[in-house]
Amino acid sequence: MFMDSRTYVFLVLILANAVSYAETDYQPLGKPASELSQQQQWNLSISPDGTGLPSGSGTAARGAEIFAVQCAVCHGPGAIGASADPLVGEVGSLASEYPEKTVNSYWPYATTLFDYIRRAMPLGAPFSLTADEVYSLSAYILSQDGIIPSDIELNQHNLPKVTMPNRGGFITIYPD
Ligand code: HEC
Repeated sequence: MFMDSRTYVFLVLILANAVSYAETDYQPLGKPASELSQQQQWNLSISPDGTGLPSGSGTAARGAEIFAVQCAVCHGPGAIGASADPLVGEVGSLASEYPEKTVNSYWPYATTLFDYIRRAMPLGAPFSLTADEVYSLSAYILSQDGIIPSDIELNQHNLPKVTMPNRGGFITIYPD
């Protein structure tokens, strides 16, 4: 049985398409992360014990200035929350009737704060802050709830030693 002319045209078109696909030399998307610098740029995780922290230092006073300009528009003045989450306050609230997870009430390790800010904040410009600025912002946020003294200079040595209020609230379900 012969094909009707419409089916014939359709098949010819499919064949022509297949040939042109086969002949096109498609460029792969992106490029291999081969350059050392690129790998170093993204390989920036920080461990709870401070492994991976860059050298630098900052104070809460300096952090307050940066926070007002770069962060308060979303996290509110004093980091108490606005369109974005509150970062401070509510320490001790987790077991209460109205638990509130903030950085200071919930997070088990202070080093995570440095890691998070450096890789993700401010929201529209990640990686734009220097290490000193991130230490300063961390000092500002932590000192808001008295987790560290407000006059301390925070750096790669003392940040891992900060004990977060909810550190004991986490359990290891796979101890081995
Ligand atoms: C344009 C708005 C915006 C700006 C500006 C901004 N943030 Fe955020 N931030 C957010 C949002 C939205 C989230 C929640 C992201 C999510 O959950 O994925 C967040 C999350 C965070 C968190 C984690 C909070 C949590 O409990 O999980 C921290 C810490 C933080 N921001 C710090 C900062 C700091 C420090 C700055 C200034 C350098 C900043 N942010 C600037 C919008 C902003």
